[in-house]
Amino acid sequence: MESRPAEPRQSAHRPAMTAGPALSASGEPLLRLDNISKEFPGVRALSNVHFDLRRGEVHAVCGENGAGKSTLMKIISGVYQPSAGTIIYKGAERHFSSTRDSEAAGIAIIHQELNLVPHLSVAENIYLAREPRLGFMGRGFLVDRKKLRADAKRCLDRLGVDIDPGRPVRGLSVAQCQMVEIAKSLSLDAEVLIMDEPTSSLTEQETRLLFKVIRDLKASGVGIVYISHRLDEMAEIVDRVTVLRDGRYISTDDFADTTVDAIVSKMVGRSLDEKFPDRTSTPSDEIVLSAEGLSRAGTFRDVSFTLRRGEILGFAGLMGAGRTEVARAIFGADPLDAGTVTLHGRTLSITSPRDAIAAGIAYLSEDRKAQGLAIKMPVDANMTLANMEDVSNRFGLIDFAKQAKAANDYVNLLNIRTPSIKQPVRLLSGGNQQKIIIGKWLFRKSKVLFFDEPTRGIDVGAKLSIYRIMDALAAEGIGVVLISSELPEILGMTDRVAVFHQGRITGVLETKKTTQEEIMRYASGYARSAG
Ligand SMILES: Nc1ncnc2c1ncn2[C@@H]1O[C@H](COP(=O)(O)OP(=O)(O)OP(=O)(O)O)[C@@H](O)[C@H]1O
Ligand SMILES: [Mg+2]
Repeated sequence: MESRPAEPRQSAHRPAMTAGPALSASGEPLLRLDNISKEFPGVRALSNVHFDLRRGEVHAVCGENGAGKSTLMKIISGVYQPSAGTIIYKGAERHFSSTRDSEAAGIAIIHQELNLVPHLSVAENIYLAREPRLGFMGRGFLVDRKKLRADAKRCLDRLGVDIDPGRPVRGLSVAQCQMVEIAKSLSLDAEVLIMDEPTSSLTEQETRLLFKVIRDLKASGVGIVYISHRLDEMAEIVDRVTVLRDGRYISTDDFADTTVDAIVSKMVGRSLDEKFPDRTSTPSDEIVLSAEGLSRAGTFRDVSFTLRRGEILGFAGLMGAGRTEVARAIFGADPLDAGTVTLHGRTLSITSPRDAIAAGIAYLSEDRKAQGLAIKMPVDANMTLANMEDVSNRFGLIDFAKQAKAANDYVNLLNIRTPSIKQPVRLLSGGNQQKIIIGKWLFRKSKVLFFDEPTRGIDVGAKLSIYRIMDALAAEGIGVVLISSELPEILGMTDRVAVFHQGRITGVLETKKTTQEEIMRYASGYARSAG
């Protein structure tokens, strides 16, 4: 990595002048990290980073994908040990050698990659390795199942989510898993709570509930570290913000004294004035894909739409409205009960993703960990996985030079932060893993591409590159479907938008002529159009 940074602004980590309730009597913050560095083989993830957390504050950590946010949090929670630097917790220097260690000290973390055990129940996951026991003083051998469920239910109720604690985690949606992780951290009664992108897959309403819980925790004196790429939602809960860039400490400010634009320019090292690129493509009249009367029991009914050459069609709607399910069915990941899908005038009979891929339909899933990546394999293999023919020679053997070129091209195009194309994907930051999946499907050169929440968890600069790529694909004549819960993104990027409500399309609107309010009316079922 590059040369050493300029010294961090001294003022940023001096002890606060006013010894309010946020500080202990000595004026020490609850947690303080000084000069933290972390090196992985070939990667300097953090150099001389400072961070402090007060009681009863929400402290945001911002930075681009790969800036070092998760690594810093994993150091606080004992997943990693720092290569250098000190951690002062409640006035004493501490070394946490595992999460168990940090949990015992009152530090809980919700990881960016969810870590639930699919075949165990929700309650078992919440109390994993800490199950209440029967017997004298709860020290017996057998798990007190009744108490386990009741305790778990209490945590879930506190979050206002309606999930049966007895059901297995397998089959829960990403958002529900997120809520279970949050319930788990609440059950720990921590003094420090670290949330690494907790809202990235939550609905508006779930986010509201989470914010309420955060406010309650704050009021009871818990120090909360909050990591998110959704900067605009921070104003509601964040007290201070620390920015990291390339593993280096940039600044710490009171949130009230700064702006989202200022934070963004610190994150990327320059100011970003455009949020969406100008569209260079206009859709033609030629229809690439048409869906008619698609139904699948219990998930969607009578869904029809057309997608034109060079068009970006939005799928808007509330979470659970059936957008992902329709895309998955067209992609052959789930069976259809009724309806036909036509590609370039030919009716398809797709029964598996393999068929869909062969026909030229690609689907970038929202649940990237489960569906998109071979996590232990290197960057180059993942990138070319969906299109081995293009990197094989005529004997069907992999042409490594071709593969390396393809992988390097996409690493550059998407600005993926990795020490090399041989790095196992599991060692990349969350956002960079997402970019790999996008690269993989781009390399596949499909005719129709479904992007399901493609910018979730991706930093602002990278978002813009993904939008540019979508536009470039459309300009090449590909039909793009953008499934997104972010209305500004739908309005900024699409030509038309199909709005879903409870498994049906309630309207298809011309993006230029519609508004956020109108889309919301269709999404909530108050408006409905014939076509
Ligand atoms: N175990 C590891 N081995 C090698 N490199 C790692 C490991 N963990 C993280 N890194 C690297 O350290 C850097 C910082 O990663 P980190 O996960 O902290 O980023 P981040 O700020 O959380 O990004 P994102 O917003 O994408 O989640 C990245 O370049 C990443 O590839
Ligand atoms: Mg991260």
